[in-house]
Amino acid sequence: MPKVLVATEKPFAPKAVQEIRDILTEAGYELALLEKYTEKKDLLDAVADIDGLIIRSDIVDSSVLEAAKNLKIVVRAGAGYDNIDLVAATAKGVVAMNTPGQNSNAVAELALGMMIYIARGQFNGKAGTELKNKTLGIHAYGNVGKLVAKIAKGFGMQVFAFDPFVGSATIEADGVIAVKSQEELYSKCRYISLHIPATGETKGSIDFELLSKMPDGAVLVNTARKEVVNEEGLKKMFAERKDFCYATDVAPDCTDELVQYETRYFATPKKMGAQTAEANINAGIAAAQQIVAYINKGDTTFQVNK
Ligand code: 3PG
Repeated sequence: MPKVLVATEKPFAPKAVQEIRDILTEAGYELALLEKYTEKKDLLDAVADIDGLIIRSDIVDSSVLEAAKNLKIVVRAGAGYDNIDLVAATAKGVVAMNTPGQNSNAVAELALGMMIYIARGQFNGKAGTELKNKTLGIHAYGNVGKLVAKIAKGFGMQVFAFDPFVGSATIEADGVIAVKSQEELYSKCRYISLHIPATGETKGSIDFELLSKMPDGAVLVNTARKEVVNEEGLKKMFAERKDFCYATDVAPDCTDELVQYETRYFATPKKMGAQTAEANINAGIAAAQQIVAYINKGDTTFQVNK
């Protein structure tokens, strides 16, 4: 009987765990749960005899892969898979997958919620501003970026997007203005919503030079990854641009130096973009189904280490 471990330092909603259990039980698999673990050793012990692994932002590095002697597949229930050592997984013959699109709506809603929160001075009772008629730049037009654009248009925002991997015709079909460079996006837009993955190329790429192109009343919203923002540049923006605001779901390492900016800075205490019952259920079900489809039929549809 194949054994699947759900290892989530930040647990899924109970309903999502039940759905995963139902799918695995139906397939004749065994489910093991490791939630809210604080020690890496607990994860290393729990993977010893598993065939499949479902994770969220949990780190699957070479030591985890080494400890998981029977592991065949790891599924990141979510979009970004920068927490999996893909080279080590490939070397061990372990298939890695994500579940693209399954938690996108939750993240998109949070991005818009953060824009409103900042526009209204973090609900401090003073006169704020509205999103209507403001310019919004979507940095990367994937599953989340596309949804942010759709919701923002409902608020009456003027929406622009930049994505080197998505054709302008695709973007413009959604009534969004496609721009040719990130510099153009940042120059045009008062609000920027980040949706780029953390890769060797993007890490630290949102720097002072780019941010300082933003017009007056600049608001940067980051529901993507903390690593994409250059923290020296971020601190310089706060110091030099008294209008600049930053709202993030992925707190930077320099948070302690930014809390002084009060209504201009906001970070969630823990990443919560995808932390809704709906997103957990969608991503959890997809992850369990993908594991069963791979182990039973060799289906590699969502493999990211091909
Ligand atoms: C993702 O990449 O899917 C999001 O960042 C969600 O991450 P989480 O599952 O840790 O909430």
